[in-house]
Amino acid sequence: MPTFEVRTAQHTYQSVVERGISAASQQFLPKKVGRVFVVTTEDVWQLHGARLAPSIESLSYEVLFFPGGEVNKRFAQVEALADQMLSNGADRTSVVIGFGGGIVTDVSGFLAAIFMRGVPVLQIPTTLLAQVDAAVGGKTGVNLVGGKNLIGSFHQPIAVLIDPDLLATLPAREVRAGLFEVVKCGIIRDAAMFETLANHSANVLNMEQGFIDKLIAGAVRVKAEVVSADEREGDLRRILNFGHTIGHAIEAETEYVRFLHGEAVAWGMIAATHLAAIRGMLSVEDALRINKTIHAYGPLPSACDLNIGHLIARLASDKKTLQGKVHFVLPTRIGEVSVVSGIDTDMIRRAIQLALENRS
Ligand SMILES: NC(=O)c1ccc[n+]([C@@H]2O[C@H](COP(=O)([O-])OP(=O)(O)OC[C@H]3O[C@@H](n4cnc5c(N)ncnc54)[C@H](O)[C@@H]3O)[C@@H](O)[C@H]2O)c1
Ligand SMILES: [Zn+2]
Repeated sequence: MPTFEVRTAQHTYQSVVERGISAASQQFLPKKVGRVFVVTTEDVWQLHGARLAPSIESLSYEVLFFPGGEVNKRFAQVEALADQMLSNGADRTSVVIGFGGGIVTDVSGFLAAIFMRGVPVLQIPTTLLAQVDAAVGGKTGVNLVGGKNLIGSFHQPIAVLIDPDLLATLPAREVRAGLFEVVKCGIIRDAAMFETLANHSANVLNMEQGFIDKLIAGAVRVKAEVVSADEREGDLRRILNFGHTIGHAIEAETEYVRFLHGEAVAWGMIAATHLAAIRGMLSVEDALRINKTIHAYGPLPSACDLNIGHLIARLASDKKTLQGKVHFVLPTRIGEVSVVSGIDTDMIRRAIQLALENRS
């Protein structure tokens, strides 16, 4: 059972990648657990509730439904869930289980972080994106009208149970969106994983167990290592933002409707790769290989009509921008990146143009 330890100031916990592990959740809950609250969406509960429910049958539990969707990832929903917890007998011995995609794990994590000033949360992510990214690392939060994830908290889970069997029902587009984050992990920190992704895209896209299980484990290992070294996003955790600087601008510019997060990040990674090549930090050969591999996990919704001036203006207002300085994570070779700021705007413009026109 591949298990990756995440060591943080709050505590150390395991991220376990194993088929069927969602049916063993009780053994990861505290011994003296009180009421258990499963936070999920109706679609996920209908599809997979029968896997989780038997494992908590002997406990006193309640399933709380959340409408799902980015528009509902709001503080009002957290408050509504907290009210439901209270009216269903929650106290400080209660535990929250987040059972869903990244929206559910972000909301349930935040709910657990602030309910009675904090109760434990067990994360059981059900989308590929949440399994390799959102559920591991302790970042929780919700959106404000003015931007995504602007209120939240670090609240590390007691464990993350990653069950690849749950992905069988995930729509193909959601799978590809998650795979872009896996490709990201290869580019930033694991050249061997990148090679698998580059050479076996058909097997991976078919979700063949031999490939997908190893890749999920590889991506979770990268995230666990990076978070353990740098929980609160100093320099190292920033490498996880490869593709996200321009990706966030693209998502915001298209009002979070046209692109799934992973797809916007894919365009952002392509642009950042062009930028690294233009600056002479990355060989043209590696740049071509990276961008070809990203496109192999497409198709990506077109981005060629986006206004590059608008995207550049948005870079400055990104939440990751510190004191007006835009930071880019740029590959220096496959498996290695470096964080660079103070890049000339014309260069950024040129890189975005090359990416969005889909020119190598
Ligand atoms: N906290 C972090 O570090 C972090 C990192 C990355 C992303 N995120 C957040 O994650 C969110 C995106 O997460 P997401 O991509 O998982 O989207 P999502 O949570 O909206 O899930 C996508 C869709 O798939 C459905 N679904 C979930 N599991 C399914 C399954 N097994 N089978 C069929 N359908 C299923 C969901 O109900 C939803 O409709 C964003 O809000 C983003 O901000 C957080
Ligand atoms: Zn991401």
